[in-house]
Amino acid sequence: MCGIIGYLGGKPAKNILIDGLKKLEYRGYDSAGICVLEKGGFIINKKVGPVASLEKALKQEKIEGVIGIAHTRWATHGVPSERNAHPHFDCQHEITVVHNGIIENYQALKKILIKEGHQFSSETDSEVLAHLIEKFYRGNLETAVSKALALIEGSYGLVALSVKENKLVAARRSSPLLLGIGKHETFIASDIPALLKYTKRVVYLKDGDLAIIDAKGYKIKNLNGQKMDRQVEDVKMSAAQIEKKGFKHFMLKEVFEQPQSLNNLLSGRVKDNKIKLSVKVGPKDFEKIIIVACGTSWHSALIGKYLIEEIARIPVEVDYASEFRYRQPLIKLTDLIIAISQSGETADTLAALREAEKQGAKTLGIVNVVGSTMTREVGSGIYLHAGPEIGVASTKAFSSQVGALLLFALYLKQEKHEKLDPRLLADLKRLPAIVEQTLKVDKEVKKIALKFKNTDHFLYLGRGLNFPVALEGALKLKEISYIHAEGYPAAEIKHGPIALIDEKMPVVFIATKNDLSEKIISNMQEVKARGGKIIAVVDQDYGYIAKLADYLIKVPVVNKLFSPIVNVIPLQLLAYHIADRKGLNVDKPRNLAKSVTVE
Ligand code: F6R
Repeated sequence: MCGIIGYLGGKPAKNILIDGLKKLEYRGYDSAGICVLEKGGFIINKKVGPVASLEKALKQEKIEGVIGIAHTRWATHGVPSERNAHPHFDCQHEITVVHNGIIENYQALKKILIKEGHQFSSETDSEVLAHLIEKFYRGNLETAVSKALALIEGSYGLVALSVKENKLVAARRSSPLLLGIGKHETFIASDIPALLKYTKRVVYLKDGDLAIIDAKGYKIKNLNGQKMDRQVEDVKMSAAQIEKKGFKHFMLKEVFEQPQSLNNLLSGRVKDNKIKLSVKVGPKDFEKIIIVACGTSWHSALIGKYLIEEIARIPVEVDYASEFRYRQPLIKLTDLIIAISQSGETADTLAALREAEKQGAKTLGIVNVVGSTMTREVGSGIYLHAGPEIGVASTKAFSSQVGALLLFALYLKQEKHEKLDPRLLADLKRLPAIVEQTLKVDKEVKKIALKFKNTDHFLYLGRGLNFPVALEGALKLKEISYIHAEGYPAAEIKHGPIALIDEKMPVVFIATKNDLSEKIISNMQEVKARGGKIIAVVDQDYGYIAKLADYLIKVPVVNKLFSPIVNVIPLQLLAYHIADRKGLNVDKPRNLAKSVTVE
């Protein structure tokens, strides 16, 4: 959940590194640091806070060195501080390292190193790497890094630099790293956006790879020194794709990108009244599905359960990846494990997937980030193609995940030789246009948001497919506006939450028409009778609801199966506008990072 960028070439490294860090801030932003090799010594700068603070501090510095590494951090071991910010050093300042991941045995290693005379200056696990590499350094950085890594338990994406050699050595285990190949220059980064301005030619490192970068180019070996062949790939994403495109925040841009992201998802996959997916599993290959995911992706998994069970009539279990991996799950060879992840790097989801693979189950990934670890480990998958999601709060990835699950449910039905309703498929193709129309609620939702910016609590209620939408609405609100919010299946309120309702409690009902509408209306009456303020998301025949609700948000009428994708939009916008009105940092909410690559 931190960001790494390294550079070796013919230009001064400083500005390239700072620029790369800015593009990586969404991975972590409590402190940032840079180290440039110049005239046989290190020039080091670290600052607490956003990359802008580091940039400001370095503005007047004339640093000409052409080799350097930099890092933006999201604290795991040790508070955010300059001491704990990367790059880290050995005592003599001869070796420096930036590191993502967790060194699980760092305490044991630190004890030994301290006994040998090493003095530590931070509380981090990462600093152990710098000391260990220095301990093994005999004039060859590559050998020293390999020897150090042989002792490491845990995960790393790291780049090391020595004052004595004009080279960078990088290594990866369970934390992403890729090389950017330029003309007489090589970049190394944890994520593509850091490189895009300079090159589109990249090499993804695999677990166990060691990359050695010098003026001649790069070599990739394994930790035993054997040469590894890795393909150079062309990145299709443009730099413009990751700009804000005139929106105030990335989150708002991403909410408004949903017609496009859904279009990308569907394109080529609904054709000739058929669903075309290049997955390697069909209904004959398994008896039950278990979906594992975290956070917002877990909410889409819950919707997936409703969709797959209703459409394909195959039983589905949904589990938090973090629970699944540790509860000795009962996995059968006849189970299909689906992992859902925007980033494809979430540590718990990866671990759950590996557990399932170890036990011989078939696996499928529903992932957005192309080339991410999950996509490389999974049996087969469905890419979302939603484009980069920079706002920490997941929005367009959610709707595309639900869309992908819907496609998969229809695909399973089709592969069971059951007929798909051509009208449903035609409606599905129109979904991006319907979402475009839904986004018109923005103005109305903004007005409603104004009234609730000083509220302390919110309840979100929905039923059936829209119960997970209620959970997602509540999660969006709490993560970016810091307002306490909870989602429930509407019928559950009488079993406890109704005690919370008074005139200070706004309750958002997802009340679009379906088989359970009558029941939702009676839940609304219960809330109204206790003075709660009702915000209702409705589509048609809402006459009676209009009498009960204090605020109505009208969305287009769609097939019930698509309703979560449409209904989540006003909830994303409500959270956004409340947080924006409160003047909060919507794209980078406190204590959160975009991808959670540690448990
Ligand atoms: C919420 C949010 C998180 C992520 C969760 C899983 O807005 O973004 O809850 O959904 O950390 O991340 P991925 O989908 O990358 O595995």
